[in-house]
Amino acid sequence: MAERSSDTLYNAASYQKYRFSPSENLQSVIFSYLEEKKLNPVRLAVDVGCGSGQSTRVLVTRCEKVVGTDISEAQIEAAKRSASFPNVSYRVCPAEELPFEDGSVDLVTAFTAAHWFDLPRFMKEVDRVLKPHGCTALSTYTNNFSVHYKDCSERLTEIFTETQKLLLAYADEKVSRVTVEYEEVFEALPFQDKQRVSQIVDRIPMSVAGVIGFCQSFSMYQAFLRSDPEAAKSLLQKTEERFLETMGVGSNETQVELCIRSVCVLGCKGP
Ligand SMILES: C[S@@+](CC[C@H](N)C(=O)[O-])C[C@H]1O[C@@H](n2cnc3c(N)ncnc32)[C@H](O)[C@@H]1O
Repeated sequence: MAERSSDTLYNAASYQKYRFSPSENLQSVIFSYLEEKKLNPVRLAVDVGCGSGQSTRVLVTRCEKVVGTDISEAQIEAAKRSASFPNVSYRVCPAEELPFEDGSVDLVTAFTAAHWFDLPRFMKEVDRVLKPHGCTALSTYTNNFSVHYKDCSERLTEIFTETQKLLLAYADEKVSRVTVEYEEVFEALPFQDKQRVSQIVDRIPMSVAGVIGFCQSFSMYQAFLRSDPEAAKSLLQKTEERFLETMGVGSNETQVELCIRSVCVLGCKGP
């Protein structure tokens, strides 16, 4: 597939509105790992591929200074416009050329972003910028989602999965790294001390409109939209109608739960 700019893969506005922060259980896996590795204090954390900053913000209370980086100017502008914290700043730069000194960073994170990077070059940068005993946490949602509402969870999940399958036809080849649950990311991490945790499950309350908006924020939906705008919009409209009909409700503000499973590659640099 031809190289696409990050701004055409993502729509910063739909990201800001419909993406949610890294889940509670994912955060707990990451912060427990840092405790286990005695990474305390975290003086400088870098969140690579930070998008509009949802992921960066979960680091603010645990790290003295946090820098969110992204290749997309639009995403960084959106991040800067959202809630500001005195210890957070943002930089536009590629993941493969991080603007930090050798051995200057305690923690490198990437949330639903590492699969987009040139992995060998990014991993070289992770190794270069981390201090001895510094850590990295590279995570993503897997493709396993389920939707829950009263006694129709099974049917809602089927509808979601059918839509997801249609969207997957528009997925960039790098999305295959998600399909195999970051095996390639794990292999590429050049540390002896590493692990891949793949059973991180969270149930996130949201409205039906939120579930549809979440689908809109997928890069594969954005690709579908560019290729055939009417068909793309109609797919999500029909998905929403099928949800509401199955649930027997009229409002897309009706609350459901979206169940997501995440995978996280954790690693600690040697001395
Ligand atoms: C799926 S979004 C994740 C955003 C955020 N981390 C979150 O969890 O909401 C992936 C982000 O990676 C960025 N990205 C893609 N390729 C990149 C690269 N080579 N270097 C830096 N950022 C990149 C995109 O611009 C996008 O903002």
